[in-house]
Amino acid sequence: MLEVKKLNRQFVTEDNKVHAVNNITMSVPDGMFAAIVGKSGSGKSTLLSLIGALDKPDSGDIMVDGEDVTKMSVGKLTKYRRQKIGFVFQGYNLIPNLTAIENVMLPMELNHVPKKERVERATALLEEVGLKADRHVRVPGRLSGGEQQRVSIARALANKPRLILADEPTGNLDSQTGKVIFELLHSLSRKENTTIIVVTHDLGIAGKTDKIFQIIDGKLSEKGVS
Ligand SMILES: Nc1ncnc2c1ncn2[C@@H]1O[C@H](COP(=O)(O)OP(=O)(O)OP(=O)(O)O)[C@@H](O)[C@H]1O
Ligand SMILES: [Mg+2]
Repeated sequence: MLEVKKLNRQFVTEDNKVHAVNNITMSVPDGMFAAIVGKSGSGKSTLLSLIGALDKPDSGDIMVDGEDVTKMSVGKLTKYRRQKIGFVFQGYNLIPNLTAIENVMLPMELNHVPKKERVERATALLEEVGLKADRHVRVPGRLSGGEQQRVSIARALANKPRLILADEPTGNLDSQTGKVIFELLHSLSRKENTTIIVVTHDLGIAGKTDKIFQIIDGKLSEKGVS
């Protein structure tokens, strides 16, 4: 269960003050596939960064598995990011000089998983996300966008996270490939009972999730699925 309580994050610059996350309270049960929609600049990425502990809130709590992320020590936060969270980004963010399988193995290496197990799990994950076997040893530059996103989803799953945070994972893909990637995330959330939160602009896609949150100017509300 993810529970966000009265979360706030402001950005103050010389001539401007933006309340990017404005007193947001939300809860997402285990295994749920949820979407966050909202206009550009509404605060979606800021909220995901806070949940993923890539950024610190000004106030509020983020409870994951009964632990408050906002109160964790630096050492604990590193472990939290590595073991409990999987990130998927619009630009894939794969390491360019590592092959697909090496990219998926890397988070397991940081987590001290033995080599043999890393190879086996990475191979199984790449198969699960539907990457053809001959692509496993290619570097990202020699893969299509859809293939790269499959690799980054496999990488996100590497350490069996409780929560996957995906920021516009289909934003760089054509609509057909985007649909396939989205369905892949959906089936994984069911199969692995992983909670997934996806930021998307595509309301058609968002309509297929279990729950939709909408952000307007940093304020979040739950949107009825129509
Ligand atoms: N590091 C920062 N410094 C100053 N302002 C920031 C910073 N990060 C975000 N903001 C501001 O906070 C607001 C929310 O930004 P955020 O990136 O969360 O929006 P978003 O909903 O993800 O938009 P998009 O759909 O374009 O990705 C925006 O007004 C943005 O300019
Ligand atoms: Mg964003």
